[in-house]
Amino acid sequence: MANDYTKAEKLTIYFIGVTTGKSSIMRVFPEWAKYLGIDAEIKGFDFRLHDDAASYMEAVKFIKDDPLSAGALVTTHKLDLLDACRSEFNGLGPYAMELHEISSISKRGDELWGHAKDPITVGLSFEAFAKDGYWTETGAEMLILGAGGSSLALVTYLIGRAKAGRDLPSRIVINNRSQPRLTELKKHTAKMIKNSDLSSLNFEFNLAPEAIDNDAVVAGLKVGSLVVNATGLGKDGPGSPLTDDVVFPEKGIVWEFNYRGDLVFLDQANAQKKRRNLQIEDGWIYFIHGWTRVIAEVFHKDIPTAGPVFNELCMIAARVGAPAKKAG
Ligand SMILES: NC(=O)c1ccc[n+]([C@@H]2O[C@H](COP(=O)([O-])OP(=O)(O)OC[C@H]3O[C@@H](n4cnc5c(N)ncnc54)[C@H](OP(=O)(O)O)[C@@H]3O)[C@@H](O)[C@H]2O)c1
Repeated sequence: MANDYTKAEKLTIYFIGVTTGKSSIMRVFPEWAKYLGIDAEIKGFDFRLHDDAASYMEAVKFIKDDPLSAGALVTTHKLDLLDACRSEFNGLGPYAMELHEISSISKRGDELWGHAKDPITVGLSFEAFAKDGYWTETGAEMLILGAGGSSLALVTYLIGRAKAGRDLPSRIVINNRSQPRLTELKKHTAKMIKNSDLSSLNFEFNLAPEAIDNDAVVAGLKVGSLVVNATGLGKDGPGSPLTDDVVFPEKGIVWEFNYRGDLVFLDQANAQKKRRNLQIEDGWIYFIHGWTRVIAEVFHKDIPTAGPVFNELCMIAARVGAPAKKAG
């Protein structure tokens, strides 16, 4: 793909993805920048899935060497990009070292830094709807559908939360349609828990090749439990990881990681919303936390994760991003 590596004429943040021009951040960032007093623009760099190492290197070297190129948010290519360009980074944040991926590229003086922000941003999104104490009070459980990168981030956050002595779902079940990433996630979870006093953590990893296998686990969840769609189905592929016959837990929380696409999983939850008294969340807040944490790192700006400034950023995003939420 032909990306434009012309020297930036003003401070610039890049969005490294697959079809970046379609994202609502292209409309949202200029408005956020005005509000935050950041005089900068945004440009997209598109790459094929698992693109050549040389292509990633070209982009990273360009950002590193161009004084007005301030950094980037990386999606989809988080593992591949770091793998290809590790030598260019002067420093990596702790999650980047642990997870071997980066979602943020930034500069500290002459140094290029990489950070993995997902365990932080997925956690902030989780906390937006599940208040501290909820899990202890209800004894509710959690099912994560999918064992990919964002599930790894969520599990990393949950373990960090447990290490900090905060409450957790009484059982955390992870279902995946095939074995390899399930095995990887299981290994990673065991590694994170090792040498800690987290014997009360209750993780289960299930191979669930068919939607009906996921339905069966949903049916067995306690009242108030959380069901997360981290499979990408509905956006990255058609359909839902559940069948239309699924029965969500009474007073349950249903969380779809995406906010755009044909989100059948959300349709299935909405069809039972009243009957089962469900709380339904999509990926919009996750999108906002994802971008604001990287913007804060790239422009060395203190952006709060809650309160009036954060609320204003949400309102701006809804105003300029909302019409394109389905397409962006
Ligand atoms: N709102 C936001 O800002 C935000 C932030 C992060 C992620 N997301 C979205 O979250 C989604 C997941 O992201 P990701 O990075 O984790 O993707 P990923 O790495 O591709 O992982 C997806 C996982 O889901 C599994 N899967 C697919 N269909 C399944 C099914 N029917 N039942 C059970 N498991 C199934 C896949 O299985 P295999 O292992 O067999 O392939 C894979 O392990 C993406 O659509 C992404 O756009 C949104």
